[in-house]
Amino acid sequence: MNESLPFQAVKISEHVYWVGAIDWNLRDFHGYATERGTTYNAFLILADKVTLIDTVKKPFKDEMLSRIRSVIDPLKIEYIVSNHSEMDHSGCLPEIIDFLKPKKVFASVRGEKALSGHFRFKDQITPLKTGENIPLGNMNLSVVETPMLHWPDSMFTFLDSDGVLFSQDGFGMHLATVERFADELPSELLEYEEKKYYANIILPYSKMVLSTLESFTKLNFPVKIVAPDHGPVWRQGWQKLFELYKKWAMQKPAKKAVIVYDTMWESTDKMARAISEGIASVGILTRMMPLKGSHRSNIATEVLDAGALIVGSPTLNDNLYPTVADCMTYLKGLKPQNLIGAVFGSYGWNPAAVEQLKELLKAMNVELVGEGVKVRYVPDDEALMECRNLGKQVGARLKEIC
Ligand code: FEO
Repeated sequence: MNESLPFQAVKISEHVYWVGAIDWNLRDFHGYATERGTTYNAFLILADKVTLIDTVKKPFKDEMLSRIRSVIDPLKIEYIVSNHSEMDHSGCLPEIIDFLKPKKVFASVRGEKALSGHFRFKDQITPLKTGENIPLGNMNLSVVETPMLHWPDSMFTFLDSDGVLFSQDGFGMHLATVERFADELPSELLEYEEKKYYANIILPYSKMVLSTLESFTKLNFPVKIVAPDHGPVWRQGWQKLFELYKKWAMQKPAKKAVIVYDTMWESTDKMARAISEGIASVGILTRMMPLKGSHRSNIATEVLDAGALIVGSPTLNDNLYPTVADCMTYLKGLKPQNLIGAVFGSYGWNPAAVEQLKELLKAMNVELVGEGVKVRYVPDDEALMECRNLGKQVGARLKEIC
């Protein structure tokens, strides 16, 4: 190792080094609040054919090159493998190709199209399919396409000699740390960040998760290490994460209700409070997520293991309150399944928001409990009892289905 360089590689197995970058400043990843930053992981394989697995976001190119140089002259890299074309992993690829002039750049068949679409490459990428191999001389990389986990181009590669599965975004998390291995980090931190990542990145593709995990398991690769493109490397405990992916992908309803709402003059807030007490009174775990203090991606994380989604909005100018519209657009895109739900809200002269919420939940295939509660101006005790009873109804329905 060349200790005179500012950024050093980290050895993760006999022939593989982590040569990625740590982004301490990232706080928004296409709508996902990355409160703890992230890493862009790239990996260097010291095989006869020296190979780079993925690259990093464009501004981090020099950090990656420093880490590579700490182990080897970068110009010795003969192959680059792009497991995923999203620009946090490919942003510096054109410059890296110009600089390294590798003999070959590999991607999946759809990866070749995606990279060419992004960077106007012409015949620079060698497309590969599941079952094909990248011979590295003294070792071998096996290719497994994993379409929609989480982009059409996504693929895994497996290094036979070291048992390393390069899983691109799969099994990752947005977490900037100097520790490179999951077993060096507190389990509560890992559990929260892996759940948040699944809820916000992987959830819409849960059907593909189940089929991919099933077909991948049948391949019987002797996996020892799982090396995703974000967050720590798993040299132990990855089996538990695979099981969690299966559990999250199945989306079985659970005895937990999430109440999402915003408020204009505290009326919708009062309604939310009464609903939450009604749900809790029948023994259901209740999570209040007021939009004044809850980011949409943290709400998605709570919804991942919930059975009920209850949404409240005041009517503003014949419409949903803007924060509620934002959050619901985001949640709809994540396609949570098997939820029941209810709606509520206050209004002045047009109760449009509650009707719009109903339509939104129906479009998300959420089973509606009750007709929703609409309150003009300020709820009185009778209206609040109606809210409390709606909460009880939701709780009772959850108990029936869980
Ligand atoms: Fe980490 Fe889908 O990019």
